[in-house]
Amino acid sequence: MSLVELIELPSFVDARGSLVAIEGKCDVPFAIKRVYYLHSTTLGASRGFHAHKRLQQVLVCVSGSCRVVLDDASRREEVFLAKPSIGLLIQHNIWREMYDFSDNCILLVLASEQYSEDDYIRDYDEFLMQVKL
Ligand code: TYD
Repeated sequence: MSLVELIELPSFVDARGSLVAIEGKCDVPFAIKRVYYLHSTTLGASRGFHAHKRLQQVLVCVSGSCRVVLDDASRREEVFLAKPSIGLLIQHNIWREMYDFSDNCILLVLASEQYSEDDYIRDYDEFLMQVKL
């Protein structure tokens, strides 16, 4: 199975434009406990470079575009996000790197847990050890 799990989000399109509505446990497979977004990203910057022990996330590029690398310790896949109606589901124990942010990129993140630094694995070698246990 591919590491790239894309979710088509409910879009309501009419002559006025588009509205995307996302409900926890319904459109995404978890209750949404936290929302944050990346914006005004510095040209050429990369972010992420971590995995989560328990957290699940859905990433939605609500403006502009960016690329996301996903790594499960045995393979690496990349996805280009550029549609506000598509969510990228990232399960726990997946290393992620985000880069190639367009200058108008807003990357919305829906998270299954509140922020906890204890849930992060920020060292790639530690990630490999943890996942291969
Ligand atoms: P960081 O994990 O470095 O972001 P990225 O994964 O995009 O590279 O987070 C940047 C800072 O923001 C860091 O000091 C932790 C803080 N932060 C919070 O306080 N709450 C949050 O929900 C998140 C995601 C980060």
